[in-house]
Amino acid sequence: MESFKVRDLSLAGEGKKNLEWAEMHMPVVMLLRRRYADQKPLKGYRLGLVLHVTKETGVLVRTLRAWGAEVYLAPSNPLSTQDDIAAALATEGVHVYAWRGMTEEEYFWAIGRVVEAEPHLVVDDGGDLHAYLHDKAVDIAKKIIGGTEETTTGVIRLRALEREGRLLYPVIAVNDAYTKYLFDNRYGTGQSTVDGILRATNILLAGKRVVVAGYGWVGRGIALRMRGMGARVIVTEVDPIRALEAVMDGFEVMSMDEAAKIGDVFITATGNRDVIRAEHMEKMKDGAILANSGHFNVEISVADLERIAVRKRQIRRYVTEYTLKDGKRLYLLAEGRLVNLVAAEGHPSEVMDMSFANQALSLLYLKDNAGKLQPKVYRVPREQDEEVARAKLEAMGINIDTLTPEQKKYLGSWKL
Ligand code: NAD
Ligand code: ADE
Repeated sequence: MESFKVRDLSLAGEGKKNLEWAEMHMPVVMLLRRRYADQKPLKGYRLGLVLHVTKETGVLVRTLRAWGAEVYLAPSNPLSTQDDIAAALATEGVHVYAWRGMTEEEYFWAIGRVVEAEPHLVVDDGGDLHAYLHDKAVDIAKKIIGGTEETTTGVIRLRALEREGRLLYPVIAVNDAYTKYLFDNRYGTGQSTVDGILRATNILLAGKRVVVAGYGWVGRGIALRMRGMGARVIVTEVDPIRALEAVMDGFEVMSMDEAAKIGDVFITATGNRDVIRAEHMEKMKDGAILANSGHFNVEISVADLERIAVRKRQIRRYVTEYTLKDGKRLYLLAEGRLVNLVAAEGHPSEVMDMSFANQALSLLYLKDNAGKLQPKVYRVPREQDEEVARAKLEAMGINIDTLTPEQKKYLGSWKL
């Protein structure tokens, strides 16, 4: 098997500097790297990773290798790879199969290379690796000690496998750790989505009507940060409780049908398909911008856009102009794929620090509990979540209080 495949090895020097930059902003992962570097707890283990190949993923990979693991890495989106990072990792001995702009076929070929390595432990972002293992490589999947899942969409897919009684190994839903979704999904995506839209378009956000579809953790973060930029934010939802929460958080809430007529920028963050369809596109204003921050490129129906458009051209990097029959122009960013990872660099390192500290600790937990766990979707242990939060606070130089013995007693008793 080829030991790696990347775009251009001459980018390795640039990649190494970017990795150094990320390491400086990921103190929790670096602390964990140092803590177990002598013990090498993953020596003799092959790890299969399908993650966005970014500088932050590079820091995680270097950490797992410092713990003795052999790492096989493929990207979790065909357009999110940072080629300099892929090159740097390849020169360091990582089996990386990733380049920006892969076709769908090449994307699944890369996942296939990771599977062929017969990993002991697997890490996925979005569920394509887990799905491949359960669909096309059952014999390999049966031997896997355990896996982790980074994002909401992947966890949803794994729970469906579990419900059908088909899950073949234990999985830790890293996404569902408090120190993951409260920060990564909310503040990470909030900031990096604004970053992606600005890098792609350089439009002024102040005064624009920005429509956010979905008021989950990602949608909340985007709505909050867009408001911070002076945008007039509209939220669309299907869940009445979340819709009500958005109203009381001070956002306008309405159906997509109504929002379509007045929005300047549309951002999907639902994990669902066909949230923006032809019927909405036909109502939009000339010049409306469409972007997606959900995991898959199914939230904005690109097929509908292609069908109703009479002309298509690339007007800027990551901006495709579609002209409809009536002459109206709609602008799709990043081909409807995760705008924050395609047009920008994904979440800032400081946020990925917590997500990837959880990934690293979850892998150790799976390895230490090999054979003791059921093929189920598990939550991150509470102690791990607290350990990550404490380490992050310490790295930020923030002290918190501790309960006095009297306070502990008071909180634990019914008799006041
Ligand atoms: P979530 O479950 O917390 O929120 C999704 C929300 O969308 C829910 O409130 C749901 O009611 C709503 N929704 C579903 N269908 C809808 C529809 N048709 N119209 C309007 N609202 C609808 O999930 P989340 O953690 O916010 O994640 C959302 C997506 O973002 C997932 O695909 C996740 O994997 C992805 N994600 C992306 C990044 C990134 O870097 N871009 C980071 C984290 C998560
Ligand atoms: N998902 C979102 N941002 C990311 C990043 N910077 N690295 C890896 N995965 C990500």
